[in-house]
Amino acid sequence: MGKPLQIVVTGASGFVAKNLRKYLSKSNIHLISISRKNFKTLKNETKIISATYTERSLLPKIANSDALIHLVGIGRQSSTTSYDSINAVLTKHMVNLAKKARIRKLVFMSGLGVLPNSSTEYFISKFKAESHVRDSKIDFTIFRPSYIVGKDDLFTKYLKKCIEKKIVQIPGSGKYLIQPVYVDDVTKLLLNSVKEERFSNKTIDLVGPDIISFKRYVKLFLNNSKTKISNMDLEKAYNLAIRNPKFDYSVDDLNVLVGNFTGDHKKLCNLSDEGFQSVIQLLKTGALL
Ligand SMILES: NC(=O)c1ccc[n+]([C@@H]2O[C@H](COP(=O)([O-])OP(=O)(O)OC[C@H]3O[C@@H](n4cnc5c(N)ncnc54)[C@H](OP(=O)(O)O)[C@@H]3O)[C@@H](O)[C@H]2O)c1
Repeated sequence: MGKPLQIVVTGASGFVAKNLRKYLSKSNIHLISISRKNFKTLKNETKIISATYTERSLLPKIANSDALIHLVGIGRQSSTTSYDSINAVLTKHMVNLAKKARIRKLVFMSGLGVLPNSSTEYFISKFKAESHVRDSKIDFTIFRPSYIVGKDDLFTKYLKKCIEKKIVQIPGSGKYLIQPVYVDDVTKLLLNSVKEERFSNKTIDLVGPDIISFKRYVKLFLNNSKTKISNMDLEKAYNLAIRNPKFDYSVDDLNVLVGNFTGDHKKLCNLSDEGFQSVIQLLKTGALL
């Protein structure tokens, strides 16, 4: 038997990272997980706590790892934390560290709809990050995910609260499309992208088998509970998102939704050689509730 893979995961307390760490730990991967705050370690896992991801605190511990899966990212910015500083600059920093640490593979989570001619700050920061990864001369896989669904993602948690309050607000018509992908498929894919040559130096839409309107998604989630769906005027939604940082949707949540982005699921299937869970089926069974 060969040496077990050693994989570094950043943003360890995040939604995708938590699910990925569980999966990698069970798969007997040696994990090095980095977070700004303390967290409970799993089997086969080494913990690093680093508020600012400094070279001094990380380099000796991550040297010669097989892969870095960079899952740090923000979807809301503030006067103290900009998209550019976290999504782009911190990614560049991690790419440089990966080079110094002689890490063989970089895996990065961008966003569906990110393009060279993107015009909003969120998309621009993700495109810049993609470019840092692509220019690194390290083997890479960049995924561009639609909405990643699990029992513990932010939107699922939000919808569960709405069920308690018996009302959910949908910005605008809710007719815009999403292409949700199940988190268990995502974690499998992340590991495969490290292990398999065919993911080498590729940028891939990470989208599920179903294209569905946002409103239908919400209706299916509610699963006949007595929760009222109220359509909020889009102008009002943007107004609240701009004025109130605690509003349910950020400006960029709205941009992403209204952007109506869908991707090429067939291409992903052909590349990954795996079946994907239908999120519609998951919703119909109430598995996310
Ligand atoms: N989930 C989705 O549907 C989706 C869709 C498209 C793209 N993505 C991308 O996929 C990646 C993972 O997504 P996710 O849903 O797991 O996000 P998440 O739950 O928000 O986790 C992101 C993690 O990034 C770290 N982070 C946040 N702000 C930071 C800062 N100022 N400095 C350093 N680290 C910081 C945090 O890790 P610690 O708390 O451990 O420090 C946080 O838990 C992100 O890049 C995201 O943009 C996700």
